[in-house]
Amino acid sequence: MHTKELLSLKNKVALVTGGAGKYGRCIVEGLAEADARVITASRNLEAGDAFAQTMRDRGLDVHARKLDQADPESVAALKANIVADFGGLDVFVNNAVARPVSGGWDGFRLNDLALSMQVNVVGMMDITRAMADLIAQRGGGTIVNIASMMGMFGPDLSNYEGTDMGNPSPDYFFHRAGMINFTRYLAHVLADRRIRANCISPGGLRAPNQPQRFVQNYSKKVMIGRLAVDDDIKGVVVFLAGEGSKYITGENILMDGGMHC
Ligand SMILES: NC(=O)c1ccc[n+]([C@@H]2O[C@H](COP(=O)([O-])OP(=O)(O)OC[C@H]3O[C@@H](n4cnc5c(N)ncnc54)[C@H](O)[C@@H]3O)[C@@H](O)[C@H]2O)c1
Repeated sequence: MHTKELLSLKNKVALVTGGAGKYGRCIVEGLAEADARVITASRNLEAGDAFAQTMRDRGLDVHARKLDQADPESVAALKANIVADFGGLDVFVNNAVARPVSGGWDGFRLNDLALSMQVNVVGMMDITRAMADLIAQRGGGTIVNIASMMGMFGPDLSNYEGTDMGNPSPDYFFHRAGMINFTRYLAHVLADRRIRANCISPGGLRAPNQPQRFVQNYSKKVMIGRLAVDDDIKGVVVFLAGEGSKYITGENILMDGGMHC
């Protein structure tokens, strides 16, 4: 196969959960620029529609659908809708995350923790099984899980020195780590359906509301010298979603600008 073909997602249908969020937008844009037909799904359909329209204005094939990952009926409805409107699915990007827990180690509340688990563990596995089913019906495809460097390492509290950011919530370190080993599990149980499963563990994405001191603390530990920017994940996700990575499954790619090398 020609290299351009290996990296093309032409004729592929891809679903990105939480595709109107911070990393989600970059992932949707990357897949669509590689010629996939992309569905972004999250709870706020209006925001999803507005984002999809900006992509269509650029000639990209992006569509928004409603999804509450915590609700099995919503997952089942999206599954049926993908078959009806798009004819099936080839690529599933497990990107949505809920962050209902605040207060750090001393302040986290158990009901917030339960909500986090409902979305980030129970709902995440529900939608993965539903979408793997659709991919299997097409004869195979790919799953790309989005975890975090915070699923691989403990928190570096010195990043928050001189800010009022407090210490991070414990659930995030738990379910991001789970996502990485869940990827390896999927690689095994879905291999006979010709589905490959891989994971990306990104570092922090630059956002306008980040305190300057945090950006300085963080950036000086990164070999590339900065937080991630919008383009950084696009090539990685396209590579894992398509044939370019066809001999890779069960892998986790740390994308942290060399912070932990
Ligand atoms: N932003 C970062 O710096 C960063 C760093 C490392 C890893 N990540 C990972 O990137 C992924 C996306 O994170 P982000 O920072 O872009 O998040 P975000 O908060 O910007 O977006 C998350 C998306 O998930 C959606 N979502 C939340 N609950 C949902 C539910 N019940 N049903 C459907 N959709 C739901 C939200 O609507 C939103 O669109 C996550 O897997 C996260 O762990 C992010």
